[in-house]
Amino acid sequence: MKAILHADKEWGIGKHNSLMFKIPADMKFFKETTTGNVVVMGSNTLKSLPNGAPLKDRVNIVLYPDGEKREDCTVVSSLEELFGEIKKYDGEKVYVIGGSMMYKTLLPYCSEVLVTKVDAVGGADVFFENLDKNENFKLIYESEPLETNGLQIRFTTYKNSAVKPF
Ligand SMILES: NC(=O)c1ccc[n+]([C@@H]2O[C@H](COP(=O)([O-])OP(=O)(O)OC[C@H]3O[C@@H](n4cnc5c(N)ncnc54)[C@H](OP(=O)(O)O)[C@@H]3O)[C@@H](O)[C@H]2O)c1
Repeated sequence: MKAILHADKEWGIGKHNSLMFKIPADMKFFKETTTGNVVVMGSNTLKSLPNGAPLKDRVNIVLYPDGEKREDCTVVSSLEELFGEIKKYDGEKVYVIGGSMMYKTLLPYCSEVLVTKVDAVGGADVFFENLDKNENFKLIYESEPLETNGLQIRFTTYKNSAVKPF
């Protein structure tokens, strides 16, 4: 299982239950990476998607602890149930797509984290852990900077040397 996100210079990832930046190149990367695969998210992230709808052409698994009946995605109500659902798929095809609570909970179980780093400060109210300060994670890839929509971004990959089994 991997996590995928974009973060600003302070590891901020969102504001007012929304993204802070519109980054077409990152949206393209996200779509290409996750399409045909499995995406795992928290209830707030599902609500934050256009029309609160699941992502097309992907298996969508959503954690709603209070239970929720939806026909358009797979709903789980506990971590145990979530892990049972994830185990049905090849781990290489499973992507945690947010938000901050889901990332925090599932980070130890992720083998890699794909972070698009945005060279800006967006005034976030939710953050990802600073992976440069986590001894289990090592930066194994960093792209050249790319200018997009007035922002400079870099695609990076962190590898987890202590993946927790579930
Ligand atoms: N930058 C990026 O790449 C990126 C990607 C995704 C999201 N985001 C941003 O992240 C923000 C949303 O983050 P968030 O933390 O508010 O939302 P979230 O993780 O999507 O959802 C939080 C909700 O999910 C459930 N949940 C998540 N983890 C749980 C756990 N360990 N145990 C039990 N329940 C759990 C709870 O649902 P109930 O409330 O139903 O109990 C909780 O309130 C938004 O600003 C969004 O735009 C950014």
